[in-house]
Amino acid sequence: MARLVRLTMTTPVRIDASALPKDGKPLSICTCGLSKKFPFCDGAHKLARSEEPGKLYTYNADGTAVIKVEDDPHYVPPQPEPADGGTASGGLA
Ligand code: FES
Repeated sequence: MARLVRLTMTTPVRIDASALPKDGKPLSICTCGLSKKFPFCDGAHKLARSEEPGKLYTYNADGTAVIKVEDDPHYVPPQPEPADGGTASGGLA
């Protein structure tokens, strides 16, 4: 699962410390790229929950719908753990 996200910002996002929660509640930072309140999470990541490994998703301009799904040319499938737990010697000497 991967997605193409259109970002048009060219400057940093300044966070006013006075706007941060003072009640100890956690503050979530968006890592999916779909939030309308970027850099803060607004729950839009729920759209990405059905994304499948090995696929590349393109969302519409407002990030509310998938408009294209294709094979991800950069996908590296998870590798199985070595049967011996990775302790066997071998490889380069
Ligand atoms: S992680 Fe992106 S909206 Fe929640």
